[in-house]
Amino acid sequence: MKRFAVFGNPIKHSKSPIIHKLFAKQTGILQKYTKICVPIDNFHEKLLNFFKNGGNGANITIPFKKKAYKLCNTFTERAKYSGVVNTIKIMKSQEILGDNTDGIGLLQDLKNLKFIHPKSKILLIGAGGAAQGIIYSLIKFGCNITIINRTYQNAKNIIKYFHNIKNLNCIELQHFSKNLHNQLQYNLIINATSSSLKGNIPNISPLIIKSNIFYYDLFYDISLTPFLKWCRFHGAKKISDGIGMLIEQAAYSFYLWHGIMPNTKIIIQKFKKIY
Ligand SMILES: NC(=O)c1ccc[n+]([C@@H]2O[C@H](COP(=O)([O-])OP(=O)(O)OC[C@H]3O[C@@H](n4cnc5c(N)ncnc54)[C@H](OP(=O)(O)O)[C@@H]3O)[C@@H](O)[C@H]2O)c1
Repeated sequence: MKRFAVFGNPIKHSKSPIIHKLFAKQTGILQKYTKICVPIDNFHEKLLNFFKNGGNGANITIPFKKKAYKLCNTFTERAKYSGVVNTIKIMKSQEILGDNTDGIGLLQDLKNLKFIHPKSKILLIGAGGAAQGIIYSLIKFGCNITIINRTYQNAKNIIKYFHNIKNLNCIELQHFSKNLHNQLQYNLIINATSSSLKGNIPNISPLIIKSNIFYYDLFYDISLTPFLKWCRFHGAKKISDGIGMLIEQAAYSFYLWHGIMPNTKIIIQKFKKIY
């Protein structure tokens, strides 16, 4: 039986093993999928040991996606341009193939929700692995993205990584907050920070909340995430957490490993909470 695992830290909250179990049942594919918590400084060794011991592929989550990129020696196009990897497949030739399914998974969920169109203007909060991983798919779809982040340098690094392309820019948080009246042209605001993991929200003004803007939190939980609670409190009407993205990105990983695309709609219905 083929073996897969999701590697991260923390990993307890991960729903990936349940989702992959449902995909396997739905498609009749036999696979074993577990979750592995990795010490922060021991990622390479743990992952390579898993493959040496017969692992066929892996998902990579917070905070190892950039490290995973460095470990791969061949890439899908979207991973090559993103510089971050969330899916690995060991090829017959023993090459380590890196993919990034976060961007395409998010885009698919935003389309399902009707939260996006090719000319959407997006405010992206956060500049970590997840933010970097979703930019390629959103820009390729036609969107325009502005990044704000607690540490401005990390946002600037992403802009530099993407060679200062036209539809991508960043604004310093202080400058953003001072000029809020100019910042309300966004159609969609995405929280790609990990602040929710500790029950926090990014330090931004509630003046960004408007009833006609879509708000999407990459994070998901059994109840409304801190960011979405805050959006709702300040008057947001159209909100979603990242459970749909999680299922869509998992489906693209499953497809890379097995060549079969699971039906995500029924699984999203099963997990999606209506708030
Ligand atoms: N739904 C899905 O399928 C899916 C997929 C991928 C990721 N995610 C979620 O996306 C989130 C980000 O993951 P990641 O891999 O990008 O993590 P990461 O690489 O560790 O990056 C963390 C980001 O969050 C910011 N941040 C952390 N705490 C903050 C706070 N208190 N206030 C403001 N900003 C804060 C960091 O800012 P600095 O640069 O200043 O440190 C950085 O931009 C996580 O919650 C993860 O669970 C969901």
